Amino acid sequence: MGSLRASKEGLDIVEQARKKKGWTKTALTWCEKALTTEATLKRFWRLVPIQQESFTKICEVVGVDWENVVDENFSLPTGTPRIDWEQPIDVSIFYGRKKELATLEKSVFKDRLAIVSGLGGIGKTTLVGKLWENIKGKGEFEYVIQRSLCNKPPLSELLNDLIEFLSDDEEKTGGIFQLMGYLRKQRCLLILDNVEAIMSSDKLAGFFCPEYQDYSDLIKRVKAEQHKSCLLLISWERPKDSVGLLGEKVGFLRLSGLEQEAQELLKAQGLLGTDKELETLNKLYAGNPGSLKLISALIQELFDGRVQNYLRSGTIVVVLNEILAQHFSRLSDLETKIMINLAMNSEPSSLSQLIEEISSQPASKVMEAVNSLINRSLIEKISSEVGEVLFSLLPEVRKYVKSKFVK
Ligand SMILES: Nc1ncnc2c1ncn2[C@@H]1O[C@H](COP(=O)(O)OP(=O)(O)OP(=O)(O)O)[C@@H](O)[C@H]1O
Ligand SMILES: [Mg+2]
Repeated sequence: MGSLRASKEGLDIVEQARKKKGWTKTALTWCEKALTTEATLKRFWRLVPIQQESFTKICEVVGVDWENVVDENFSLPTGTPRIDWEQPIDVSIFYGRKKELATLEKSVFKDRLAIVSGLGGIGKTTLVGKLWENIKGKGEFEYVIQRSLCNKPPLSELLNDLIEFLSDDEEKTGGIFQLMGYLRKQRCLLILDNVEAIMSSDKLAGFFCPEYQDYSDLIKRVKAEQHKSCLLLISWERPKDSVGLLGEKVGFLRLSGLEQEAQELLKAQGLLGTDKELETLNKLYAGNPGSLKLISALIQELFDGRVQNYLRSGTIVVVLNEILAQHFSRLSDLETKIMINLAMNSEPSSLSQLIEEISSQPASKVMEAVNSLINRSLIEKISSEVGEVLFSLLPEVRKYVKSKFVK
């Protein structure tokens, strides 16, 4: 059966009709009367093609003639990928990341599981948006679906949504078994963003909350079983189960800050300064584009955009307060202790130094906690001249820890 999509004008007609009825855009009554699911109704609104039968019913029950709603110019030639992107990402302004994009592209083409992790604001979602812009013309995938886990959907709900899409609305429900069937049958790219939302905040990094433990099964099976698709996870923390053993098709990218290109971002934000000043500012915020945008707005307001005057003030304004508070709310007591210790040491610390200074805990616990903090992208790893690994904090994080935890 064919698929139909609404025109923009058609959606306006449906919008007015649903307001008259007093229905929300995804009203349960609407779904029930149209014999469809909320996921399909959402696709209808996002202009994703849906089955003709569902399309006509959705229009009919809201009292609208479907022929006035349908986009007549739309047709889906065979071979066109099916795309359902929940939250379109604006990548019209995008700097740098050439290497990261190349790595990620290679990974989603060849791996079964790919993970992008990094601190809030570092640019994970934007990077994946840009990746998709780069690869969408390459015809590599037949089905591409993007979902955010922000609202913490139970796995069964997510699976129904995915299966409905991957089966061209033929199936409304299914479990991991059915999903794996589709991943084998057709080349799909499944993108799940904000995976940290369902990860535990009272354990070390990388564990799912008990009620979301079944996501762990999904990851394990996608990683281990034969199929021709890729599951791309975007998260603050890398799930433990996503670590690939030798020979497993798993790609991992921990995103760090922008380098030289950050200067272009700062100039585009209207900041005034020499290259050196812009570089200093970028270093203070460790190239985090989210931070850089916020500090640019502050420098605009307080210093008329003059970077020099902000730098002269000799302080770092913590602009990622809310995001850092969320990151810190997930830490164990020992992890927080290590963060405070690192914030108080002006020089980077070695592991043995940390073990010695936090003598109240066994060395193995300190090692586990440091490892967890690396997974959370909260500590920076530096190699010393003599080949020793040292740990330190990014300047903004250090300032945050000092202001929140050190009296
Ligand atoms: N390469 C880039 N060039 C220009 N702007 C960027 C770039 N990367 C990210 N940004 C901007 O930085 C901000 C944060 O990016 P983004 O939302 O992708 O971060 P994130 O890592 O997904 O954060 P979170 O974990 O909080 O979801 C956005 O405003 C985005 O437009
Ligand atoms: Mg994001």
